Amino acid sequence: MKILITGALGFVGSHLTEKYVNEGHTVIGVDSLFSGSAINVKHVLDCINFRLELGDIRDKEFLLRLMDGVDCVFHLAAQVHVGRSMTEPEMTWDINVNGTQNVLETARSCGVKKIIHASSSEVYGSAQFVPMDGTHPLDAPHPYGASKTAGDRMCFAYQRTYNMDIVIVRPFNIFGPRQRDDNYGGVVSIFARMILQDIPPVVYGDGSQGREYTYVTDVVDAYDRIMKYTGSISIPINIGSGEEITIKRLAYKLIEICGKKFAPVFVEARVADLDRLVVDASKAKELLGWKPTVSIEEGLHKLVEWYRTDGVDRLIKRVG
Ligand SMILES: NC(=O)c1ccc[n+]([C@@H]2O[C@H](COP(=O)([O-])OP(=O)(O)OC[C@H]3O[C@@H](n4cnc5c(N)ncnc54)[C@H](O)[C@@H]3O)[C@@H](O)[C@H]2O)c1
Repeated sequence: MKILITGALGFVGSHLTEKYVNEGHTVIGVDSLFSGSAINVKHVLDCINFRLELGDIRDKEFLLRLMDGVDCVFHLAAQVHVGRSMTEPEMTWDINVNGTQNVLETARSCGVKKIIHASSSEVYGSAQFVPMDGTHPLDAPHPYGASKTAGDRMCFAYQRTYNMDIVIVRPFNIFGPRQRDDNYGGVVSIFARMILQDIPPVVYGDGSQGREYTYVTDVVDAYDRIMKYTGSISIPINIGSGEEITIKRLAYKLIEICGKKFAPVFVEARVADLDRLVVDASKAKELLGWKPTVSIEEGLHKLVEWYRTDGVDRLIKRVG
């Protein structure tokens, strides 16, 4: 198959890229280097069935040159950081909405067979009931969630107007190797990196916020099942482990796994931080036979192990 992945140099995109290149598919990786890095695909960069195309999804001409003969587009490129969306809402909208519109339109004009759109659980806002299924109100309190909601609406519009095979995927929080661990990173990776560098992790508020985290390979498996699914999927698919953990517990668990003795530092709560996010992923289970295979505890061990081996550069760079 010929597969195009936008955001191929990012956290999730790089794992998808690696999987499909290793399976022998022809993979075109699209990325603007906005937040991703070629280091994330270092294991497949020289493979003849992988082509890296550096450019911006907001550039329609650029996308048009790449879509010809593509069977499936995974659209992951986005400005993904909630806090950054609050300080840079226009840029977030431009990438996440106008960029998505470009991907949809170029895929339409090139007759791409299937588009899998990475939405987010953040479209729901804080849980009004748990577990959160596809009927949960869309109540995102921040520009990131709003932009993802708008992107989803364009996907629905293209599904219905042009009868295109477009699947909207709403992962809850994902964790694992290669996620950014700087100010624009994900909390699990930030905590792991800080703790391994002997810096106590910083918890916003009292740490009672409930979250769930799905290990990245389980999310990749869900995306893969969606790609292979031959029927039509017209409803958004929630992906998540359903295994709830508070931020405070997460911090202490990682400190324990890393074998450190300090405690987290608690600071003032952030604006628009969600109280709880807990998934109902039953549609993914019913339709795709998907279920998570890596527990939070096991995934945290794998992540810490990665930082000590393949990902050790991340620790060394910051210490220096
Ligand atoms: N990581 C999570 O917990 C999570 C949860 C739910 C949904 N998602 C969604 O999954 C997708 C991937 O997330 P991620 O965590 O891998 O993020 P990431 O930031 O690691 O990857 C996004 C990639 O998109 C690229 N990109 C950004 N703007 C671009 C542009 N204009 N043109 C081309 N490339 C551009 C970045 O350089 C980066 O490599 C995103 O759409 C995100 O909203 C992620």
